[in-house]
Amino acid sequence: MKNKLTAKIALVSGVLVIALSAVVYAQSQSGMRQGPMHGMMNHQDSDTSLRTGGQGMQRMMQGTDTTQAEERELALLFANHQLLSRNVTHLPNGIETLTESDNPELAAILISHVVGMINRADTGRDPGVVIQSPTLDDLFQNRGDIQTHIETTTNGIKVVQTASDPNSVKALHTHADEVTDMVERGMMSVHEAMMSRGPGH
Ligand code: HEM
Repeated sequence: MKNKLTAKIALVSGVLVIALSAVVYAQSQSGMRQGPMHGMMNHQDSDTSLRTGGQGMQRMMQGTDTTQAEERELALLFANHQLLSRNVTHLPNGIETLTESDNPELAAILISHVVGMINRADTGRDPGVVIQSPTLDDLFQNRGDIQTHIETTTNGIKVVQTASDPNSVKALHTHADEVTDMVERGMMSVHEAMMSRGPGH
């Protein structure tokens, strides 16, 4: 009888551990902030009050040419995407975007990401992150045709990019829409895009 009870307790604890792990995993994937586990499961960045998405998230951002600071920024943008707002205008020859956050730490991270990445695009230094969109290949290839103007705002950054080649303009439109989807849905956007491209793409 006692053995049966012990076995039952062990089984229940086992199920609880599995359920808890699933919640931790789901939270790190979805960027969920609320719920009964809020606080306990909400890993926070040591320098900011932002969510980190866990160590897995930062590892996922390692590219063939990325610094730890860039990986951290990417992880924080994904994990806190719901704190960002975005407005995009497709111009006949490019894009105009405004991306902002009321959270000053996230706004600073966003600005650093955009300035750093546009600098990479201008100088042809592809970060080579596994999960990055193939549209970036087109932007890197056509970099000679793309003019960029960036301007910081109180809460974020405004980007105007123009080009003369219709292929460059198309890539700018596509990339701007992809960033919007990442702002709206975080990692889910990347997962779906990768699934629809199939293995190895
Ligand atoms: C795999 C992860 C990512 C990589 C490798 C990446 C890389 C880049 C690169 C190379 C650019 C410059 C593109 C150009 O010059 O036209 C860029 C721009 C930008 N990225 Fe990222 N990025 C990533 C994820 C994100 C995320 C998660 C966000 C925000 C949630 C974000 C927000 C932006 C914004 C706002 C711009 C400026 C262009 C625009 O407003 O459309 N990025 N990124």
